[in-house]
Formats: sequence, structure tokens, C-alpha cells
Amino acid sequence: METLNFFPSVETPDEGYQKTIKNCHELLPTLPQSKGWWIDQLFQYQGFWKLSFSIRGSMLINDHFKPRPTDIIVATSPKCGTTWLRALVFSIINRASFDFSHHPLRKANPRELVPFFEGIIHKDGSTSFVDGIPSPRLLSTHLPYSLFPTCMTDDTSACRFVYICRDPKDVFVSKWHFANKLRPKELPPLSLEETFDLFCKGVSHYGPFWDHVLGYWKASVESPKKVLFLKYEDVKKEPLCCVRKVAEFLGVPFTPEEENKEIVEQIVKLCSFESMSNQDVNKLDKRDQQRPISNSDFFRKGEVGDWVNHLSPQMAEKLDQITEQKLQDTGFNFH
Ligand code: A3P
Repeated sequence: METLNFFPSVETPDEGYQKTIKNCHELLPTLPQSKGWWIDQLFQYQGFWKLSFSIRGSMLINDHFKPRPTDIIVATSPKCGTTWLRALVFSIINRASFDFSHHPLRKANPRELVPFFEGIIHKDGSTSFVDGIPSPRLLSTHLPYSLFPTCMTDDTSACRFVYICRDPKDVFVSKWHFANKLRPKELPPLSLEETFDLFCKGVSHYGPFWDHVLGYWKASVESPKKVLFLKYEDVKKEPLCCVRKVAEFLGVPFTPEEENKEIVEQIVKLCSFESMSNQDVNKLDKRDQQRPISNSDFFRKGEVGDWVNHLSPQMAEKLDQITEQKLQDTGFNFH
């Protein structure tokens, strides 16, 4: 089966890991499948559409990952601002270690500084890399909240999640651009209409989008000390306030001295779209088999409401209707 070739042949050091990997290989062909947005196939696993690597990653996390109370998980549905949130949380946590003019974010894309949790574990075929990261570990994920083991989500565990969501209309447009960038040039471009239909049906990476958002929303209401829920639009509008909120949530509020030195302002500036997209490292436009996504692919416009330039009024209305229906009686809305 084609999917199996996708996995790198890794030396799995331990029988336990091998068992999980075998279970995953046996499970994949039994799952509902759908066409992906570029070349790969999506599998429906525990209610969410995922690529095979991410299913393997989440199975390994569930069977083998040992959380620490200091773990910080930066969680997003793709295209909601993962790059931005990685940068913000990294710079908040490490603010005492770096001078802003020589900050690591000036030389590295945030994905190199905040490892992609399920991606790294899938690639290693084990948890050995993440086990070796010193505390506090900062990891990034697209996994839905319900796919994490209870040892990470129940009240006995102290690890924390910072989640960011975004208006689904902007998410869809961002995803469509991204998918077309990644799609092999020999294939015809993905039409807006075709991908719109898939998105509305919930068939997109880590979709249904609304279920992903609601999983974290409900967790943030039930366990506000465990899950901080942010909106992209709010961070755009009031970045200083959001950065302070994240720092407080993570137990590292800004001191009066830091406020006097305008550290919050410096973090906001360093992580802004303008600053990040202008770093040479983020202008790199090189894709290969090892790194199918280039750094520049994560930066497009970084605006709120760009959907208006792409969606017809009928499309926007349809998405709004689905959103309204999905969010009914949940206490959450995107406004
Ligand atoms: P657009 O395609 O609407 O421009 P992700 O990081 O989850 O893949 O999300 C990518 C989206 O976030 C893209 O949106 C990208 O331009 C935007 N983005 C990247 N860096 C950003 C930043 N520092 N501030 C605001 N938006 C950012």
C-alpha cells in the first residue's frame, strides 16, 4: 500500500514502539479515506481527517509519551497562526536569555525553535528526541485536544496548552493558497470551488475545522488553568494585552522592571508579520523531499478579512451558516 512507503525506515529501539507502529500500519487501510488537498491521502481517525504521519505520531504519543508538568503545547488548526504563536510563546518563555537584536527568531524560522510534536515523533518512530529536550519543553501541535492522552489533559497533569483559532473564512483562503503552493507543478492547480466543498464537509487537514476549535474551546472553559484559548483577530487587535495574558497563563508574568524596559512591546514587534516575513531566513523559498514546505510558505498576507478578496458572497454566507450551526449552544463565536 502506497501509504506505507511514506514512512521512513527507522531503527526503532524498543519493542513497544514497534508494536505501536505495527498497529498503525494495520489500522490505516481500515480507515475511511479521502482525497487530500495536495497529493497525499487523508484518513479519518477518531473523527478527524489526518495524514498518515500524524496518525502514527498521535498513536506514539498516546502509547509512549511521558509528559512533564512544565510542558507547554502550542496548539493550532493549520493556518490559524501557528508560526506566529510559536514565535510569541518562544520569545515570552525565553525572554531573559536573548537580546532582541540578536534573537534566535532573526536567524531561524519558529518551526526550528519549537519542534512539531507529532511530526518529530513520527519521524523518529519513538519519543527519544522529545525526551531529550530540557524543561520547560515547548512543543507545537495540530492534533485535536481529544487525541491527546488523558495523562496530558486530565486535572492531575500540569502541562499547559496555548491554542489560537481564526475566522474559518480566512482559514480556508489561507489553506487554499498554501495547498496550491505545495502542490506539485505537474498537477493542475486546486480550484477554489473544489477545496471549498471539501472544507465545508470537514475534509481538510485536521478537520472538521469547527470540531478542532470546539475541542479546545470546551477544554479552556472546563480547565482554564490548562488551556488558554486565543483568537487570531484579538491578537492582531490587542497584541500587547494578549502577550501579557499568555505570560500570565504560563506562570511568567512580566515584572514592573520588564514593563519599564518595554519587553512586551519588543516581543510584539519581533513577532509581527512585518518583522518576521522580512527576516532573510523566512524569505527562503526552497522545497525538497526532506523539507517539502519552505520557510516562506508560512507567510502570505497576515491580515484579518482577506477572504473578501477570494470568496463570493454566497460562499461566505455558506461558511457563516455552517459556523453558526456548529457553534450553536456552545457559548463560543468568532466575533
Ligand atoms: P494568510 O495566508 O492569511 O496570510 P500557520 O502559521 O498556522 O500556517 O498560518 C499561516 C497564516 O498566518 C498565514 O495567513 C500567514 O501569513 C499568517 N502569519 C504568519 N506569520 C504571522 C505573523 N507573525 N503575524 C500574523 N500572521 C502571520
